[in-house]
Amino acid sequence: MNIKLIPDERISGLFHINDYKLRKARNGYYYIILFLTMEDNIIRGYIWEDHSGALKTLYETDLVVIDGKVKELYEQCVIIINSITPFKKDRVDVKDKFDRLIILLNSIENRYLKTLTGLFLDDHDFLKKFIEYPAGLHIHHNRYGGLLEHTVGVMHQSYLNHRIYKDVFDKDLLLAGAFLHDVGKVAELSQADKCSYTTEGRLLGHINLGLMMVDDRISQIDGFPDELKLSIRHMIASHHGKINGSDVAPKTPEAILLHRMDGLDITMDKIRTQRCNGWSAYDEVLKTEVYFG
Ligand SMILES: [Fe+2]
Ligand SMILES: [Fe+2]
Repeated sequence: MNIKLIPDERISGLFHINDYKLRKARNGYYYIILFLTMEDNIIRGYIWEDHSGALKTLYETDLVVIDGKVKELYEQCVIIINSITPFKKDRVDVKDKFDRLIILLNSIENRYLKTLTGLFLDDHDFLKKFIEYPAGLHIHHNRYGGLLEHTVGVMHQSYLNHRIYKDVFDKDLLLAGAFLHDVGKVAELSQADKCSYTTEGRLLGHINLGLMMVDDRISQIDGFPDELKLSIRHMIASHHGKINGSDVAPKTPEAILLHRMDGLDITMDKIRTQRCNGWSAYDEVLKTEVYFG
């Protein structure tokens, strides 16, 4: 997959550092040049200021979250880096998020959905990855624990909406669908400390992988109702909305809300990570700059 670098746009993502060098400019000032990889892309990055902090990070780790702006330099797009943080340093409070996840899942009363979500929680290999993985490399929540943080964010928002519109949604379906909507990312991403996707992730994507994982668990539950299975599958299949890559648009109350809450949680993460003095750079996901005053 190729990352689209557009001059003057902000870029934020999880990168592997292949190499870096401290160089001296003609004016006598030092800068750092970095050779970064994300998936198949090799990109050059530059740090003009704060060398000591950046160098400390570079000594510590070769997996970093970078925030910067794209510039054209000698007819090539490069990243002018504003901040560089070790992947694990910007970590989510995993314990707190996991406690919230369990509280939300415990409120599910439907016995089939309780069993289904329980099968995921009882799978230690799945759970370890679900807790540690980022939600993605580039778009949002690209930090240690990001997938858990995003999932709990979407579940929490869904729960609050159910409280307001009790007559509109089936709470159990909403919470189970929100929990399961991105589980396929555990098979799509290759280990938390590698900056790449698995082959099956690249060929099938997390929506298809998630559907397969859920189908597999449902097949282990006797008498799981067909209608409920279809509802859960539809929520996973449609959660990106048709414009953003799902094959079908969300068409049930729970799927419509899940799609909106997924987008809201991503939007909030972008605003949080954009925070600066005055105007932020243009953000590809938000489709705007943000003014922080
Ligand atoms: Fe997704
Ligand atoms: Fe999501």
